[in-house]
Amino acid sequence: MEIHQFAHQILSSESLETKLNPAPPDLTDEQPSGSPLPSQPVRNSELKIVPGKSVRVPPVDGFPDQSQRERIVHALANHEFQAVELFAWALLAFPDTPSKFRRGLLKILDDEQRHTRMYIACLERMGKRFGDFPVTGYFWNKVPNIKSPQDFVCTMSLTFENANLDHTTENALAAQKIGDKKLAQVIEQIHDDEIDHVKFGWTWLKRFKSKDHSMWEAYSQGITRPLRPGLARGRKFHPEGRVEAGLDDEFIQKISDSIPGMEAGYESSEESDRP
Ligand SMILES: [Fe+2]
Ligand SMILES: [Fe+2]
Repeated sequence: MEIHQFAHQILSSESLETKLNPAPPDLTDEQPSGSPLPSQPVRNSELKIVPGKSVRVPPVDGFPDQSQRERIVHALANHEFQAVELFAWALLAFPDTPSKFRRGLLKILDDEQRHTRMYIACLERMGKRFGDFPVTGYFWNKVPNIKSPQDFVCTMSLTFENANLDHTTENALAAQKIGDKKLAQVIEQIHDDEIDHVKFGWTWLKRFKSKDHSMWEAYSQGITRPLRPGLARGRKFHPEGRVEAGLDDEFIQKISDSIPGMEAGYESSEESDRP
């Protein structure tokens, strides 16, 4: 099976199982441009994307209350689920990129499938299923502005996954505080993987950018409002993960100086996009 066929299957199947099924180990990439590029994913009726303004998710302070915790974990699962689909989308959108870049996208897609399954398992422990609450298309809404692999790594790796370094840090602490060790472990594992994902974006932005631009200039060019540097961080900024991912001092400082754009990074309402 070709990589594009696997990516296309994820985006065109209604089945959650198919979308979360890991890639066969022997995928080939001989005809990268073999599948059409969808602008929206096919989903089952429970996971149909609804407008952000009709969805409300409590902040992480709600963790001690199980009904709020279920709602929050459901939103976290939806973030990971959209990440799966967006990495599949990128594999179809950028067939002419280096093989190493495409294999990197595929590896991250595999991680995002695992993250989604891990949050779904947490939900099921609480007696809920993925699809019990409405889901937004917060990540998908940004796709029309992603015109190049540079835009993709700036949007996905260096904004959403970058912000997730803070959200996972805060959420793991909140889970520990209520004594939910399993949930805390899941979030910590995701945090560690996200460091690698941010590193992937950083490494490839360095390759894709024009030599005349600093990394910060290249990043600023790669995102389109309402995306902005303030959405690459949480309310509380934790530099350690960025240092580990290899981001340079100027970049880390600029993100740290940006005004945080959203509450804890949950299923963001459209309001969260406002400056
Ligand atoms: Fe993830
Ligand atoms: Fe990720």
